[in-house]
Formats: sequence, structure tokens, C-alpha cells
Amino acid sequence: SSLLRSVKTLARPTTARAYSVDSVPSRKVTVLGAAGGIGQPLSLLMKLNPLVSQLALYDIGGTPGVAADVSHINSRSEVAGYMGDDQLGLALEGSDVVIIPAGVPRKPGMTRDDLFNINAGIVKSLCTAIAKYCPHAIVNMISNPVNSTVPIAAEVFKKAGIYDEKKLFGVTTLDVVRAKTFYAGKANVNVAEVNVPVVGGHAGVTILPLFSQATPKANLSQDDIQALTKRTQDGGTEVVEAKAGKGSATLSMAYAGAIFADACLKGLNGVPDVVECSYVQSTITELPFFASKVRLGKNGVEEVLGLGPLSDYEKGGLEKLKPELKSSIEKGIEFAKKN
Ligand code: NAD
Ligand code: LMR
Repeated sequence: SSLLRSVKTLARPTTARAYSVDSVPSRKVTVLGAAGGIGQPLSLLMKLNPLVSQLALYDIGGTPGVAADVSHINSRSEVAGYMGDDQLGLALEGSDVVIIPAGVPRKPGMTRDDLFNINAGIVKSLCTAIAKYCPHAIVNMISNPVNSTVPIAAEVFKKAGIYDEKKLFGVTTLDVVRAKTFYAGKANVNVAEVNVPVVGGHAGVTILPLFSQATPKANLSQDDIQALTKRTQDGGTEVVEAKAGKGSATLSMAYAGAIFADACLKGLNGVPDVVECSYVQSTITELPFFASKVRLGKNGVEEVLGLGPLSDYEKGGLEKLKPELKSSIEKGIEFAKKN
């Protein structure tokens, strides 16, 4: 095979060598909840990611079909489906990045916290398995309520003696995706160039987009900023209502989840200056978990970046979100300690 590789290398123009599959490290990605509304399109997008060499798709049911389907796509990764408790260990063994979109979604009239009773237990059992089978993996938590499920995961990992705060991420990328889209529409700028940090947490007023730091700059009125902020905070509810009982955001979430997992993989592979917003263990406020810009690297979190200058409106929003975020964090920690 080394002969084959050198023949292949010779046949390739030298400029392409840096991008060849041979030079990209092997990376296993596991999706827990892969047969679900988010899990299926997310599995598709991860299959399209050339940084992935092995893709493990796990769910309580339905994964043989999803895996067979996705595996026919002619991209780099090998795909395998795993189903049920017995196969969870195999799905996780050797994994570099574990993405968790397992759990129930909202229906109209519900808050994310209304999902706590069911999803807390699911997250706890999946994290217990992660601690056992791939304790050094990076974890991307999508299951709601993220403000509580990330603290639950941290407690489970602490109990197992393997907690590494640099490797646990609450996925808030969808808030950033929404903020960018809504800002571009209002500011009439090219959406592909827009950047907006979103900090705090991932529910209602705990979602705090920092439009004062948005680029390209635009001269929006205070009314516009407030409307954009509210729409970003209520983005999830907008989709839940439009789906009218058939769940919450799945396609935009799969997109956001794929962007975030790609950033984690790039960080692991040593790509410099990979920065995304994420809900992580943090000291930038008095709250133990907080979403802000994070620089990703070979160990996961390389640096939790500060908030930067806030407008008076954003300063008010920051103070307003703290009590709710604090109680969601405490609720998660308490659950994990009791159960
Ligand atoms: P869904 O019901 O369509 O899919 C969930 C999947 O999880 C199902 O296939 C189910 O079988 C599976 N599952 C349940 N228990 C499991 C277990 N113990 N192990 C493995 N898999 C299990 O729901 P969805 O629309 O894909 O949403 C999933 C979660 O993601 C919800 O909690 C939702 O609120 C959350 N979500 C988060 C964000 C975010 O921005 N972080 C965005 C959208 C949705
Ligand atoms: C979202 O923001 O779309 C998700 O958290 C799902 C939800 O319940 O809103």
C-alpha cells in the first residue's frame, strides 16, 4: 500500500498534496440520537465533512437504516450504525468528538425547561457511557435544556473522575446562525460576511446577541436592535410554533451542529484561530457556565474569550439573564448529584 500511495502521490499535482486524504488525521465522530429530527441531517452533514474518517451513528432504534443510507455517499468516512444499550460502547469507543442531539423536542406552549424531566435522565445515562468508553472525547451537547444539560454532563464526568472542562461544550451555534441571518436582513449587508457574537445561555432571555459588536457595521436604530434581539431570543419558539406540534428546529440545527463539530475537529487538528461561541465552564462572569467566544485547539477549549465592550442595552440584558441562567445551572447540578 505504500507503493500505491507513492504512485498516487506522483500522479497528483504537488499543490494538491497538502489537501490529500493521506495528510488528514483519522477522526472518529459519534452521533448519539442519530435517527432523530436533528440526528439524521446532522449525520448527513458529518458524512460530507472530509475531516471525519469514522462516523458512528447511535440511537435507541432506526440507526441501521440511517447508517446504510448515509454510508452510500461517496465521501471519506466509514459509517456504522449502532442500536440499543448493548451497542453504545462500540459506538463510543475511540471517538474524538461525540455529538448529542438525543432527547425530546418542544411542542408549542412549552419552554426548554419543560423538557428537563425527560432529557436530564437521557443525558445522564449517555454521559455515563461516554465517561466509560471515550473519557477523552470532546462532547458537543445539543439536547435541551442546554443551560442545565451541560452542568449535568459536568457532574457525571466529575463523579467518574474524568471531567475535563476543556472538552465539554453546549452547542449555541444556532443562536449565532440566527443572529447573523436576522442582522443581515435588517442591516442589508452580505450575510456571508456577517459576524455576531451571542453570549449567555441557550433559552429565551439567557440568549444575548451582541449586535453592538456585529460586523459589517450598520447604523441600526435602538428599536431595530431590540427587535433583532427579541427575534434571536425567540428563534427556537418561532420554529416550534411554525411546526405546530411536529417538533423544533432540526435542519438549521443540523447545519449549526455541523459547523460547531467542524470547528472542534479543526481545533483538534491544529488549525490556528478557530473561534466559535459556545456554552462552557467559564470565569468571565460569576456564573460557572456561560456562553461566549471560545478559541478551540488540540485540547478543546484553548481560551475562553471575554465579552468585549457592551452597549448599555446589552449590559442590562446581561444582568437580566443571570438569575435564570444561575437557577438552570443549579437545577442541573442538583439533579446529577441526587440521581
Ligand atoms: P427527535 O425526537 O426528532 O429526535 C431525538 C432522537 O433521540 C430520537 O431519534 C430518539 O430515539 C433519540 N433518543 C432518545 N433517547 C435516547 C437515548 N437514550 N439514546 C440515544 N438516543 C436517544 O428530536 P430532535 O428534534 O432531533 O431534538 C433533539 C433535542 O435537541 C431536543 O432536546 C431539542 O430540544 C434539542 N435541540 C437543541 C438545539 C440547540 O440549539 N442546542 C436546537 C434544536 C433542538
Ligand atoms: C432551538 O433554539 O431551536 C432549540 O433550542 C429548540 C427549541 O426548543 O427551541
